[in-house]
Amino acid sequence: MATINDNYLKLKAGYLFPEIARRVSAFAEANPAAPIIKLGIGDVTEPLPEACRTAMIQAVEDMGDRDRFKGYGPEQGYGWLREKIAQHDFQSRGCDIDASEIFISDGSKCDCGNILDILGSDNSIAVTDPVYPVYVDTNVMAGHTGPASENGEYEGLTYLPISAENAFTASIPNEKVDLIYLCFPNNPTGAVASKEHLQAWVNYARAYGSILLFDAAYEAFITDPTIPHSIYEIEGARDCAIEFRSFSKNAGFTGTRCALTVVPKTLMGKAADGSEVALHGLWNRRQSTKFNGVSYIVQRGAEAVYSPEGQAQTKALIDFYMENARIIREQLTAAGIAVYGGVNAPYVWVKTPNDLTSWDFFDKLLHSCNVVGTPGSGFGAAGEGYFRISAFNSRDNVNEAMRRITEKFRG
Ligand code: MLT
Repeated sequence: MATINDNYLKLKAGYLFPEIARRVSAFAEANPAAPIIKLGIGDVTEPLPEACRTAMIQAVEDMGDRDRFKGYGPEQGYGWLREKIAQHDFQSRGCDIDASEIFISDGSKCDCGNILDILGSDNSIAVTDPVYPVYVDTNVMAGHTGPASENGEYEGLTYLPISAENAFTASIPNEKVDLIYLCFPNNPTGAVASKEHLQAWVNYARAYGSILLFDAAYEAFITDPTIPHSIYEIEGARDCAIEFRSFSKNAGFTGTRCALTVVPKTLMGKAADGSEVALHGLWNRRQSTKFNGVSYIVQRGAEAVYSPEGQAQTKALIDFYMENARIIREQLTAAGIAVYGGVNAPYVWVKTPNDLTSWDFFDKLLHSCNVVGTPGSGFGAAGEGYFRISAFNSRDNVNEAMRRITEKFRG
């Protein structure tokens, strides 16, 4: 009999969001009339910006015309999209990033996992706790960890605790770690990192030859002008960081699928013989072999984000969700519940009332308020006693969910 990848057997039973979906379906089946409001997974609810739809409709027309038809596109993405991203997202902020260093993909979740293909299996790895579970699970699948302990921590990973005490930003380790996953604005806590904090990480990475895997999927939600949007705003980051970005949350592309990963040409890793190898070439090789690019139609939709109309429409979308976040923060605070985040990120990180465990609060909210959120403990042991509420929903649903929660839990 063929064997399996045994590393999968080390994984906790279900990926967090499918597990939540399973519990919610079971509840809905038993209570078909319950008016459930979902503020769990960070999935957008508002329609795609008109500029994106118009561009995609035009692209469909292109596909119907023999002269404008496109077959396979470049695996790295079309040059016209990479150029726009380089100018608008990076060069306009003073980042020295060239279009050729940007790789278009179908999602930053995929890229966060796929990047392990080009990195050695003997690297030491650090993640924050709590953390976006994809960083951990993909390393488990790749055999980079031992088994999980009782509280869910995997042997071989370095966990950097983040909490209200350190403003949800990890202390820089004293010892060498090869790969460090950073996510700012942070999923799940909604925290952001100052320029000084990111500079400290870049200095650390350069001193030890480490690589920062910087997930900036939520950068568009930053409202504080002093907060960097990209790791490449930090001096020296070109030599030590890979950045992941997405059109999912800023332009509502969760179902449309388009993202990007930046691998600077100056970023080097060490081969087994001790020589230095540029990771850009390896990622290019990996993508050319295992990926055929994002569809032409979707890339035209993503390009439209950078038109004047697209910029105005995506800003309106972001403002809409951030107003939801403000409502969630203010209503819960007024009810005596401690909340964090939600100012520069679409997630509000809630201290569970009455010292309930994260899953107990999940069950209580589901059963007594018919509201779904995400248990903090699903993001790591240090998330126990916390709960994540997503601002991605309609205004009516957010208002109604807050009415139900504050009525039930007013302190
Ligand atoms: C989340 O809820 O954490 C996000 O939707 C996850 C993702 O974007 O993959």
